Amino acid sequence: MSTIRTQVGIVGAGPAGLVLSHLLHLEGIESVVLENRSRQYCEERIRAGVLESGTVDLLNQMGVGERMKREGLVHHGIELRFSGQGHRIDFQDLTGRAITVYGQHEVIKDLIQARIATGGQILFDVDDVRIEGFESNQPKIHYQHAGQPDEIHCDFIAGCDGSHGVCRPSIPAGALTIYDRQYPFGWLGILAEAPPSSEELIYAYHDRGFALHSMRSPQITRLYLQCAPDENLDEWPDDRIWQELQTRLAGSRNWHLNEGRILQKGVTGMRSYVVEPMQHGRLFLAGDASHIVPPTGAKGLNLAVADVRVLAQGLKDYYSSGSNEKLENYSQACLRRVWKVQRFSWWMTSMLHKHEGNPFDDCRQLAELDYVTSSRAAAQSLAENYVGLPFD
Ligand code: FAD
Ligand code: PHB
Repeated sequence: MSTIRTQVGIVGAGPAGLVLSHLLHLEGIESVVLENRSRQYCEERIRAGVLESGTVDLLNQMGVGERMKREGLVHHGIELRFSGQGHRIDFQDLTGRAITVYGQHEVIKDLIQARIATGGQILFDVDDVRIEGFESNQPKIHYQHAGQPDEIHCDFIAGCDGSHGVCRPSIPAGALTIYDRQYPFGWLGILAEAPPSSEELIYAYHDRGFALHSMRSPQITRLYLQCAPDENLDEWPDDRIWQELQTRLAGSRNWHLNEGRILQKGVTGMRSYVVEPMQHGRLFLAGDASHIVPPTGAKGLNLAVADVRVLAQGLKDYYSSGSNEKLENYSQACLRRVWKVQRFSWWMTSMLHKHEGNPFDDCRQLAELDYVTSSRAAAQSLAENYVGLPFD
């Protein structure tokens, strides 16, 4: 068995774990990242695609934004489409800011490369990660690497291991309060070899359910359809997917949805989830390990990055001046943003998805869409949240 000694042990090489590790490195603080998947798996896992302007600024300040600047697609607005009509929400006009469309897996590739280039330690393919001692000053992480049991001894543990990780369940249940809301629908997502049919994202409300047109590059379109949370993909041959997308996204007469070879298909459930507090002793939870948002507001990755920005500040203060204050306030500081982002994601989800049952809801949703696209005050509220709330 070998033992590694480091300052911060990080579980999970997703956006939260990798951004934290690199921010700490820039402050001269050592960390080791443990990841139970392979490097290739992490770099190819298709997930989110929209970066808030604050996330983009942070990645640039960290020196990992070069490729994003070249390949990311800067968008100054989105379209809301309902009753067959498109309505643009102009972020530039309403907020002076923009979003960048750049796949989460591309962000991951850039971060892994930067960590490795600067001597960072990321251990991929580890098994049986267990954490202990975080109620004391001597936290430990046990794991297996290449069949060998190993340990990390550290000052702090960052639980960045996503919604199915081991860190959150290691906290005594009585110490946590859980807020959970499941939605009666999911998203069927595809990646298609087809040029995007619009320069900007299109969020469509339709009688048959929500649809979203997004993209990854000038050659690749990302599209989603509202479906059942347990939708069986076998019942969705490519033709049926295209037909449904054509119906739900149909707009003005001269708009056309480009079709192409489907490269990937998947179904994602939708959930709003928060655990409080986001810390216990010397264990700090960040990102999906402590909260999940439905993807309608495109916030999951951005919120994970916002958490570790706060955590890195707290650790910097601790190591530079011995002050515990920011670390003690970590959860409170993060949760103010988390709940506002939860509210926005829930609101976008409720406004845009078809709810079975009461026709009152259909009329209320159409009125809400009409309001958001005709009142500057309402459009500005959407835009301000979408491009990302300011940091305190
Ligand atoms: P993750 O990215 O989940 O990273 C956690 C890491 O920890 C993973 O690499 C995982 O392999 C690793 N890990 C887990 N358990 C262990 C363990 N025991 N030991 C070691 N490592 C471990 N958001 C959007 O905004 N738009 C989207 O379209 C969208 N699509 C999504 C699709 C899917 C299928 C999922 C699951 C999420 C999606 N999200 C989306 C949400 C967004 O991707 C997440 O919010 C974001 O990845 C959170 O980053 P994270 O670092 O907190 O967690
Ligand atoms: C995506 O491009 O994957 C995407 C875009 C916007 C969302 C969710 C996902 O709200």
